[in-house]
Amino acid sequence: MSNGTTSPLPKYLVQEDEIFKEFKSLISNLPKEKGMVATHLHQYQGFWYPPRLLQATILCQNHFQARDSDVFLVSTPKSGTTWLKAVIYSLINRKKYPPNSENHPLVSTNPHDLVPFIEVKLYADNQIPDIESLPCPRLFSTHIPYFSLPESVRDIHSCKIVYLCRNPKDVFVSLWHFTNRLRSKEMGTNSLEHVFSQFCNGVSILGPFWDHVLHHWNQSKENPGKIFFLKFEDLKRDPLCHLRRLAEFLGCPFSAEEDGFWMAEEILKICSFKNLSGLEINQNGKLSSGEENKAFFRRGEVGDWKNYLTDEMAEKLDEISETKFGGSDLVF
Ligand code: A3P
Repeated sequence: MSNGTTSPLPKYLVQEDEIFKEFKSLISNLPKEKGMVATHLHQYQGFWYPPRLLQATILCQNHFQARDSDVFLVSTPKSGTTWLKAVIYSLINRKKYPPNSENHPLVSTNPHDLVPFIEVKLYADNQIPDIESLPCPRLFSTHIPYFSLPESVRDIHSCKIVYLCRNPKDVFVSLWHFTNRLRSKEMGTNSLEHVFSQFCNGVSILGPFWDHVLHHWNQSKENPGKIFFLKFEDLKRDPLCHLRRLAEFLGCPFSAEEDGFWMAEEILKICSFKNLSGLEINQNGKLSSGEENKAFFRRGEVGDWKNYLTDEMAEKLDEISETKFGGSDLVF
């Protein structure tokens, strides 16, 4: 589909008249708000979805069957999912693909194509993919909120979830840039103030951000063997420590021999912002869902919000975080 002027919109953001007819009646009964790119967002089980993503989510809920050995990377949009996809993929496949090898899959493939989103990619467009034949451990990702995940993903204890989030101020700024990038010239850009007010009201893709994070935080406290809760900021601050913790959680700790070969450091090197963003595939390639790969690499820093938010905006986000996270020991 073409949006008139520049590059095509990602498929999951297309206009509602392009989604499948039988789905329309369900959608028509859901609360609806204007989205940040092209479509409306619809509120389903407490969270806001573009229609196509919602349709795929419901398909996942009805059809996805988890296995004991599955690994799920769950995240809020713009939390650094691309980075962690690269890290987990390299970690799990390090024997088959040593991270310093010239033909490592990351050299020629964007992380989103190596670790597919179930709702953005696998179950998109009314398809039910054959995931049974995928080799174990199967590695998937999703932005679907905890209580809307396919039941088997939540219920099978040994199906592991790695949850990634990031401080809301940087998430918001990253989201503002990303959604503006997806808008055509014709649509123009959304103002920072407009997107800010939507984000604060929870009306952003898979928002409210705070509920998404809190639900997973609470679950990780109850069930630390199943859900590994990780913050972007912690991964930036001490990547080696968190990579080692992650390897242990996923049941593939680094051996003494690997330590001798600097395996963990090599993984972090190939997954670094500098390396990934500089690769030809990420400078000029596109995902099957329509986005340019380079849209997923902007600055990759902690605290970039200081360059965009007024003091009042920062205070407002802090206040919401205090209200929403108060009572839990979750802080950013
Ligand atoms: P910024 O917009 O703040 O730069 P997601 O992958 O969930 O869509 O998140 C995108 C954010 O992660 C962007 O943040 C992007 O620059 C950052 N990012 C992508 N790859 C990264 C990497 N290898 N290391 C650190 N940050 C990365």
